[in-house]
Amino acid sequence: MSEPFIITSVREMKERAAAARAEGATISFVPTMGFLHEGHASLMREGRRRGDLLVLSIFVNPTQFGVGEDFESYPRDLGRDRRIARDCGVDIIFAPPAREMYPAGFQTWVNVETVSLPLCGASRPGHFRGVTTVVAKLFNIVKPSFAFFGEKDYQQLTVIRRMVADLNMEVEIVGMPTVREPDGLAMSSRNSYLSSAERQSALCLSRALYSASTLYRSGVVSVAALREEVLGILEREPDARVDYVEFRDGESLEEREVADDHTLLAVAVRIGTTRLIDNVIVGRGITWKEKC
Ligand code: PAJ
Repeated sequence: MSEPFIITSVREMKERAAAARAEGATISFVPTMGFLHEGHASLMREGRRRGDLLVLSIFVNPTQFGVGEDFESYPRDLGRDRRIARDCGVDIIFAPPAREMYPAGFQTWVNVETVSLPLCGASRPGHFRGVTTVVAKLFNIVKPSFAFFGEKDYQQLTVIRRMVADLNMEVEIVGMPTVREPDGLAMSSRNSYLSSAERQSALCLSRALYSASTLYRSGVVSVAALREEVLGILEREPDARVDYVEFRDGESLEEREVADDHTLLAVAVRIGTTRLIDNVIVGRGITWKEKC
């Protein structure tokens, strides 16, 4: 595989993408904040399969981090990212500095309303406004035919789909399943913050989702009963502090009191100082290597 070409300027990224489109190429685009893992790789591989030119962005977007969050300490390793991107067949890595994306005078925001409000929107005010603004900008710069997002960040995927529909953006959003470690932990760049003891404790998230979806599939539809199951597992873990456990419609994100096959169970839990999120569509359930 050839080395991906690294672009840091918005102008150059626009020109390269425009030249590819002029030659009739379709562009696949995978936006990330870097520190790549197998979850990101699954998006890149699907992108490689669907498009002629595969563009990966690596940008730790300051506007989606709140005051006191981990913007400064967010893990960064461009050398390693470059090797992973090469192995996934990425053609271009777009890695702009913050001043390219947010030059002096910047003052325009994209705000998706209702679906941005609950769950992580409630715990992290302003987070989704930062996400939708940067993703809209990236779409305008790259103008991809396809863009790939993980179900790991289920609400983010929902918010992006809403934005694309509402603003008539000409990009197909492709949602991809959550990639897990062999023991069930959903892959995340933030897992690197966990000590080995915390890494063990963090398994309570996937265990709780597994138990609740198994219970649902055995016929229990009462959200009160399913929530009790989840909280029972999370609260038994001494290192874990629950941020939220919510049952919502998988499309509208409206609250549900009775679960059906499309109900999303989403959890956010602090393990020590690290905030982790995970989710399952209860009718689908989840599985991982050691469960197979
Ligand atoms: P980041 O956390 O780097 O994630 C980039 C993409 O990888 C997102 O679509 C995310 O859902 C997906 N992803 C992360 N972990 C995954 C896993 N275990 N399995 C499958 N997909 C996974 O999400 C962001 O960056 C940012 O908010 C961004 C969209 C780039 C905007 O700044």
